[in-house]
Amino acid sequence: MSQQPIKFAYWIPNVSGGLVVSTIEQRTDWGIDYNRRLAQTAEKAGFEYGLAQIRFTAGYGAEYQHEPVAISHALLAATEKLKVIAAILPGPWHPVVVAKQLASIDQFTGGRVAINVVSGWFRGEFYALGEPWLEHDERYRRSEEFIRVLKGVWTEEKFSFQGDFYRLHDYSLKPKPVQQPHPEVFQGGSSRAARDMAARVSDWYFTNGNTPEGIKAQVDDVRAKAAAEGRSVKIGVNAFIIARDTEQEARAVLQDIIDRANPEAVNAFGAEVKNAGAASPEGEGNWAKSSFEDLVQYNDGFKTNLIGTPQQIAERIVALKAVGVDLVLSAFLHFQEEVEYFGRKVLPLVRELEAQRQKVA
Ligand SMILES: Cc1cc2nc3c(=O)[nH]c(=O)nc-3n(C[C@H](O)[C@H](O)[C@H](O)COP(=O)(O)O)c2cc1C
Repeated sequence: MSQQPIKFAYWIPNVSGGLVVSTIEQRTDWGIDYNRRLAQTAEKAGFEYGLAQIRFTAGYGAEYQHEPVAISHALLAATEKLKVIAAILPGPWHPVVVAKQLASIDQFTGGRVAINVVSGWFRGEFYALGEPWLEHDERYRRSEEFIRVLKGVWTEEKFSFQGDFYRLHDYSLKPKPVQQPHPEVFQGGSSRAARDMAARVSDWYFTNGNTPEGIKAQVDDVRAKAAAEGRSVKIGVNAFIIARDTEQEARAVLQDIIDRANPEAVNAFGAEVKNAGAASPEGEGNWAKSSFEDLVQYNDGFKTNLIGTPQQIAERIVALKAVGVDLVLSAFLHFQEEVEYFGRKVLPLVRELEAQRQKVA
């Protein structure tokens, strides 16, 4: 088990409708004023990172979407220590454009920006943008080149690259980012292609919510493959957190979210993501085993089961750490209130349990 304290990130609600496909009341707002206050609350509460998601178009909720690099910069300007991870989709973006923007933001913010390279699930979005929709493993081949270009231009004086998707000739990026060797590179996905790519080029492997056993299998595979490359990769897991004073209250909130799920939107989202994953050679992927209830949360966040009292949740977080998890990526129903509650009630218990386990070890 890592000796480092487990880290916490939260999903920046930069798209409308929150993080569940449900008509339940959500006191979460996608606008900039709400997000600035939330980022300040999150850094005070002990969250190390915020993650700005990427969406170009509506679908299954998310009618309005703020662009992730733009909102990341705004939130970094409103905070002092929070790191913000901007999600990027290769395809619509050229890696040098992103590398350049993030290098400048890194300079402006004293080294607090990071990137989440996602390979895409939403074919309709690519179609709307007039971008080719590649086969599953081709999307990862492009993402891997994308990450190699990012790292190359961030770290090398003059960088050349001859890939199938990108070509660079003696390109010299100035200024370089502040962070050494470069801003952290996260990636999302859990298919075999995602795990292989993480092992080869990413700093962080972000995966959908899952049980400790389901996560352990991924951790073991990614870490073994990374070790074979002489690398190490950190692991982040998604969770939709419902912390309440009693377990009964927390379970009732989950039931209410599911009862008020929008079945049409959930089923259509399920069909789209399952299709995206089924296109992989193994016919698997992030959502291969997701039920209707799981899909009410975009990234299977109920499966991680951080739903209950602060004590129950803290114990489950430490159990995740025991299987190799370095970071919990969290979503909430009412972000502002619940991020604050999490920092006050859950996080101190996690730190206590971590200290106890370390004494025993
Ligand atoms: C933590 C996490 C965050 C993600 N964020 C986004 C995002 O912001 N935008 C997006 O289009 N896809 C996002 N994805 C989905 C990926 O683009 C991709 O479709 C998915 O992870 C594919 O997984 P697979 O290869 O296991 O099928 C995210 C995935 C994870 C696990």
